[in-house]
Amino acid sequence: MSAPGNGRSPMTNGEWMIECDDIYKAFDGHPVLSGVDCQIPAGKISVVMGPSGTGKSVLLRHIVGLLTPDRGDVRVAGKSVPRLNEEDLLELRRNVGMLFQDGALFSSMNLYDNVAFPLRQHTKKSESEIREIVKQRLDEVGLLGSEQKMPNELSGGMRKRAGFARALVLEPEILLFDEPDSGLDPVRTALLCDLIKEIQRKYGSTGIVISHDIKSCFNIGDHIVLLHGGKVVEQGSKEQIQQSQNPFTQQFIKGGIEGPLGME
Ligand SMILES: Nc1ncnc2c1ncn2[C@@H]1O[C@H](COP(=O)(O)OP(=O)(O)OP(=O)(O)O)[C@@H](O)[C@H]1O
Ligand SMILES: [Mg+2]
Repeated sequence: MSAPGNGRSPMTNGEWMIECDDIYKAFDGHPVLSGVDCQIPAGKISVVMGPSGTGKSVLLRHIVGLLTPDRGDVRVAGKSVPRLNEEDLLELRRNVGMLFQDGALFSSMNLYDNVAFPLRQHTKKSESEIREIVKQRLDEVGLLGSEQKMPNELSGGMRKRAGFARALVLEPEILLFDEPDSGLDPVRTALLCDLIKEIQRKYGSTGIVISHDIKSCFNIGDHIVLLHGGKVVEQGSKEQIQQSQNPFTQQFIKGGIEGPLGME
């Protein structure tokens, strides 16, 4: 399951790579996650869907230990993330490529240095090896030629694609993408979905993609998790979700006005 030739030991833990066990999380007394239970299959792409503000990004942050649950547990490859020591947490983050919702580029670095950053920080590669990889990744996301631009000189979609390139440079075993397709035009969205699938297939990585775009969700997701009201409403294979009779699921995937979902 490990990326071929990257010298790391595989992280596999059987069928599930990520397990969320009854996670509770509140901020200032306001509950966001109220008993989230989900299992993310190893070597597949799972899509997490749900209305805005349900806690999708919060859930993703628990997986890399950026947030700690008030109750419950998150396990990655069988290891409890809240219980990892500093060193093991760093090791986990080396194996996870994360694209934050806002791209999260370092504002003081140009595009090239932003994408090269994880390689300089986590590997002993020479600058010429790094140049090779950075150029390849930037080419894949259509940003070759913009290397010298600073983040504030990039459009929202370009920043998103730059964050995507950066998330992939270490060829991570786990890919977490927070709305990789928002702010992109339909052609770029389709290309990005293809790229996610291609990378996943090439390295056998486990991916979680958060998306509002039902079309991209069903296009790339093998497994779907639907989040609402701080809980998982439904999870299962793409086919199971498409055929679901659950009124929330129906309304969400069809984008209908009629149904349990309102503008809360
Ligand atoms: N660090 C934080 N401190 C306080 N509240 C937070 C924090 N992070 C998230 N929240 C709150 O948690 C709730 C869920 O936020 P989250 O960003 O996970 O939503 P989301 O499902 O990703 O929404 P969207 O689809 O709009 O990105 C929101 O009400 C948000 O204000
Ligand atoms: Mg979010």
